[in-house]
Amino acid sequence: MPRRQLFVTTALPYANANFHIGHIMEYTQADIWVRFQRLQGHEVHFVCADDAHGAPIMIAAEKAGLTPQAFVANIAAGRKPYLDGFHIAFDHWHSTDAPENHALSQDVYRKLRDAGLIEVRAIEQFFDPAKGMFLPDRFIKGECPKCGAKDQYGDSCEVCGAVYAPTEVKNPYSVLSGATPVLKTSDHHFFKLSDPRCKQFLEQWTHEAGRLQPEVLNKIKEWFTPTEDGTGGLGDWDISRDAPYFGIEIPDAPGKYFYVWLDAPIGYLASLTGHFAKLGKDVNAFLADPATEQVHFIGKDITYFHTLFWPAMLHFSGRKTPDRVYVHGFLTVNAEKMSKSRGTGIDPLRYLELGLDAEWLRYYLAAKLNDRVEDLDFNPEDFIARVNSDLVGKYINIASRAAGFLAKRFEGQLSATLGVDGEAVIAKLQAAAPGLAALYDGREFGKALREIMGLADAVNEYVDAHKPWELAKKPDAAVELHEACSTCIEAFRLLTLYLKPVLPALSAKVEAFLQVAPLTWADASARLGAHAIGAFQHLMQRVTTEQVEALFTKPEPPAPVPGGEPIAAEITIDDFVKPDLRIAKIVKAERVEGSTKLLRLTLDAGEGRTRNVFSGIAGAYKPEDLEGKLTVLVANLAPRKMKFGVSEGMVLAASHADEKAVPGVFVLEPHAGAQPGMRIR
Ligand code: MSP
Ligand code: ZN
Repeated sequence: MPRRQLFVTTALPYANANFHIGHIMEYTQADIWVRFQRLQGHEVHFVCADDAHGAPIMIAAEKAGLTPQAFVANIAAGRKPYLDGFHIAFDHWHSTDAPENHALSQDVYRKLRDAGLIEVRAIEQFFDPAKGMFLPDRFIKGECPKCGAKDQYGDSCEVCGAVYAPTEVKNPYSVLSGATPVLKTSDHHFFKLSDPRCKQFLEQWTHEAGRLQPEVLNKIKEWFTPTEDGTGGLGDWDISRDAPYFGIEIPDAPGKYFYVWLDAPIGYLASLTGHFAKLGKDVNAFLADPATEQVHFIGKDITYFHTLFWPAMLHFSGRKTPDRVYVHGFLTVNAEKMSKSRGTGIDPLRYLELGLDAEWLRYYLAAKLNDRVEDLDFNPEDFIARVNSDLVGKYINIASRAAGFLAKRFEGQLSATLGVDGEAVIAKLQAAAPGLAALYDGREFGKALREIMGLADAVNEYVDAHKPWELAKKPDAAVELHEACSTCIEAFRLLTLYLKPVLPALSAKVEAFLQVAPLTWADASARLGAHAIGAFQHLMQRVTTEQVEALFTKPEPPAPVPGGEPIAAEITIDDFVKPDLRIAKIVKAERVEGSTKLLRLTLDAGEGRTRNVFSGIAGAYKPEDLEGKLTVLVANLAPRKMKFGVSEGMVLAASHADEKAVPGVFVLEPHAGAQPGMRIR
């Protein structure tokens, strides 16, 4: 086969969270495919990047008290242990906020505009008057227009399942500020997907043989077809967002940014560009070469973006379009869906920290993967069974059964002859190579592994028939023993090669043990012959139930604190300095007529005037005991109008979470020497 030139990507993960096990499954699928292609001698460029832009990331950064750039840099810095830990061999990791992506996105846009495929249209949208920004649907909440459930998102109801427009929500409020959103008009840029040229191009592109899985194509046919009410079909795509937005500026429209999904897939090209810069190679020449194949691995939830918007963007900006989009289903854990943002079930880093072998998971996932858009489930019992009975019991066992005799009796030297049965087993294993190659290339990993385990069964049957442990006891059976053990090692080499895309680290250990160069697919037709192998080293452990249980046991919760409530969520120093805390002198303290709880305090915080503060400490203090004392005032708290007057701040006091169980309120008082007006920091 001629040497293929492959440009392979996985979806670019949002840079607002660490990887969850679903990401690891996507990367594992693509990594196995890539490693297989490399074993075939093909040229592969396997790249990914952080998807850095968008409103959710901008808002998360603001909450964390960081610039969006610093926020996504923190997330990016945490990627390596996951990728290394699970042997995911990307050639390059980039960011959609990198300069290459700004330049490429603006270029794509200009070309689409010049082709007459961009239109500016005014639209009405909810705007948060307190925050001064337009609100994405997820940041609007309110009462469901169908069932009246409170606190439902702006696009759908979690209680009754209704789907609606944000404008239909009753008593809407902004999740960001609590303010009531108002409708406001603004110009938006649209990519005219409804243009007949787009429809014609996509009809042809999506139907090209081998490009899409049949079930994906069926879904696309639905998307193409207008519904009876005249809606549906290919609609124009809103690709702009108004400032403030973390994204890439639209060249000819100040204050307008590309919607994150416009620049995200362009990040594939930006990452490839970064990778080629490192290699010192010409990325444009590579992409212009008709021999180059562009392959995207993605999850089913982002099919629309990758099979309609993305090829159209590429085509109408005069670029190469994807050759294949491989869509996979979702991973569930114990049949439970994981939330896109929180993940669930298995934390990949915890898996590694607990000492579970990354290749157990790779093997298990591979055993469940196929070329369809099916969901797959991580089931703990099934996981233990597959690892222990297949991987260790069938495969590893072959080497351990033979290695000892070879070392003790034959100084690690293999026999040049294998005998009739030995030759037959090896011939069977070698004959399987083309079929296995087709399965790997076609992403039928489950079928490939089943077939490989079938071959391992055949080898184990051979061992059971020849019984090396009995041959070893017979004085005149040295040749047969030597041949039987050598057959096992030859078979083990072949099985290792076939498993190498799935088990890269284990394969490297086996190559060291066998004293052979890194195996490539061509080695399927080679033979070891009278070769010397190294000392057998331990290759792989069995997985224990305890290990898997530990994976599902939540780490110990923090010890209870005496105050009766857990410590609040972590804050940054930027959060801490927001309240302005000052030493204040209690000039006067009086009971409040009509209230049993409140005392009226007159405070001097060194401002040249006094403040009036109401405090709920009447049950704990007599007014005269407080007068003349120093305390702590929250000086920048917004004044609050109360029944008895305006309170201009708050004094600090300690209490137990359950005041009935542990009574008492204790006003804070500084050590001697503090002066009114001093800041607490
Ligand atoms: N940022 C976008 C993709 C932009 S691509 C130009 C995004 N990011 S994501 O982090 O939410 O998802 C990244 C990939 O992980 C997607 O392919 C998605 O389908 C996949 N998965 C998310 N949850 C998953 C599972 N539970 N199982 C398998 N894959 C899952 O979408
Ligand atoms: Zn509802």
